[in-house]
Amino acid sequence: MCGIVGSIGRSDDTVDVLMDGLRSLEYRGYDSTGIALGPKLQVLRKSGELDALTEVVNANEPTGTYGIGHTRWSTHGPPTDRNAHPHTDENGRVAVVHNGIIENYAELKSELEAQGVTFSSDTDTEVVPHLIAQRLADGVDAETAFHETVDRLDGSYAIAAIIDGEETIYAARQGSPLVVGVGDTCTYLASDVPAFVEHTRDVIYLEDGQRVRADADGYTVFDDDREPVEVSIETVSYTAEETGKSGYDHYMLKEIHEQPTALRQCFSGRADALEGTISLEEVDEIPQPDAVQFVACGTSYHAALYGASILRETGVPAEAYLASEYALSPPPLSLGTLVVGITQSGETADTLAALRDAQSRGVTTLALTNTVNSTAARECDHAVYIRAGPEIGVAATKTFSSQLVGCNLLAEELVDGQRDLRPLIESLRGLPDDVQSILDSSAAESLVDDYADSDAYFFIGRGTNVAVALEGALKCKEISYEHAEGFPAGELKHGPLALVTPDTPVFAVVIGDDERAQKTLGNIKEVQARGAPVIAVTDGESAADEIADETLMIPETSERAAPVLANVQLQLFSYHLADELGRPIDKPRNLAKSVTVE
Ligand code: F6R
Repeated sequence: MCGIVGSIGRSDDTVDVLMDGLRSLEYRGYDSTGIALGPKLQVLRKSGELDALTEVVNANEPTGTYGIGHTRWSTHGPPTDRNAHPHTDENGRVAVVHNGIIENYAELKSELEAQGVTFSSDTDTEVVPHLIAQRLADGVDAETAFHETVDRLDGSYAIAAIIDGEETIYAARQGSPLVVGVGDTCTYLASDVPAFVEHTRDVIYLEDGQRVRADADGYTVFDDDREPVEVSIETVSYTAEETGKSGYDHYMLKEIHEQPTALRQCFSGRADALEGTISLEEVDEIPQPDAVQFVACGTSYHAALYGASILRETGVPAEAYLASEYALSPPPLSLGTLVVGITQSGETADTLAALRDAQSRGVTTLALTNTVNSTAARECDHAVYIRAGPEIGVAATKTFSSQLVGCNLLAEELVDGQRDLRPLIESLRGLPDDVQSILDSSAAESLVDDYADSDAYFFIGRGTNVAVALEGALKCKEISYEHAEGFPAGELKHGPLALVTPDTPVFAVVIGDDERAQKTLGNIKEVQARGAPVIAVTDGESAADEIADETLMIPETSERAAPVLANVQLQLFSYHLADELGRPIDKPRNLAKSVTVE
């Protein structure tokens, strides 16, 4: 986890560039922040969010023509000042920022301590500046000292280092994201493009094993044999405005409201409504798989549950697995199995590990991701992009909706058959307008007054709406810090019903009026009999809105599209609940957007 940033080649605004870059990387962690500037090495760092560092910067007014910065999500050592990056060697000659985990740090630390080096933090990172400093003390030049140090590291890292007096930034990538921004006269480095997109949209996505030397004249990329390599520069399509809040109080609310656009982008050019066909050119040569295994975490896992459920409906055996469990107890698979990793960031360590495990067993892998050129996209045999645009709020919203649409596109592309897809296409094409109508008229905010004092919140649904119930509960707990649980509606009576009281509102997702809906109505009555207020999220087809205490209506649509709409209502409830409770919605405690540790 963590975010790193670097800038070289600018004259007098390096501090602002680094601080702005860190602001846009805070979604990667916000336990502490820090910057280091050169050529006269200065390090400023502080525990807490970026505002705490801003005070330190304002008090010290540092200057520099280049520098590196870091925002931390703690892994080794608590979130204190002493563990904040950048870390330095004992003489303050070398400063290093790092995202990832150095797995052999304990061994390296013992070796350094045996040689008399004193450590001043609890982090794994601190071995790096000490190792570089040792090689410099041996008389080795700075670049060689950096390479030799990186050669000794095991684990995952995106690292950037500066050395007193050397007008250069050295960086390396292994298992954690690192991109280079190519400006006219400046070079930037960051964990993610939004950190420098206001300065340049020209980007190099580094490969694992690659290293960079950047100075005022430009940059050189090396492979792990220290040989310069040719790299391609890509131009990202989004702008700095798209990564700002555009007048919304929170990124999460902005991203909820961006869903009509995100869904349009995801669907655009991938279906022919007249012909009734769906085509995803990225995967059109994949034959129909014997089976599909989805691997994913958190919200993306809920999308995977939905994806597996709709694939099973088309007759393809499909299961969703939690990526963090998959590689440790891999399910059997035949060579005709397709393993699909659903990952917004494309960088989630658990999901990457599961995909790598599948690949090592010889099957085809596919990444369904939002992040172009992410590790998942590059490592898998195929990548399908959900095109939701940048998502900054830690709580996934628009990417989940786009994942559900992406699952439909994928399912229909993978399954051979002559079914008339026109009704499905019509409903998916109508989603942007349907979502917009919910955004314009939702009663979710008005429920908060009545329910903000509840003991807990429960969410139930059946079929594909189990994924909606689980996602509704995850969103609620992660941003409001209130206890929330999601269940398949039929499971309530097998245990969770014991938790139900008049102070535990139950959100019941009831779509259509089929047998599942009827059974869910029965479950509504069961919880009402225990005094719990029920909020039905429904299209009005069944009697749910008559039975429930409150209703969040969604437009009528297909069974496949309805979960997207139901989820938007639940997103809005969780958002307004968290807002009412004064929670830091975009940066919930203990969480980070991109989870690059297992
Ligand atoms: C919750 C949330 C997380 C992520 C999970 C996987 O709102 O965002 O549960 O869904 O960490 O992340 P990705 O999709 O990047 O693999």
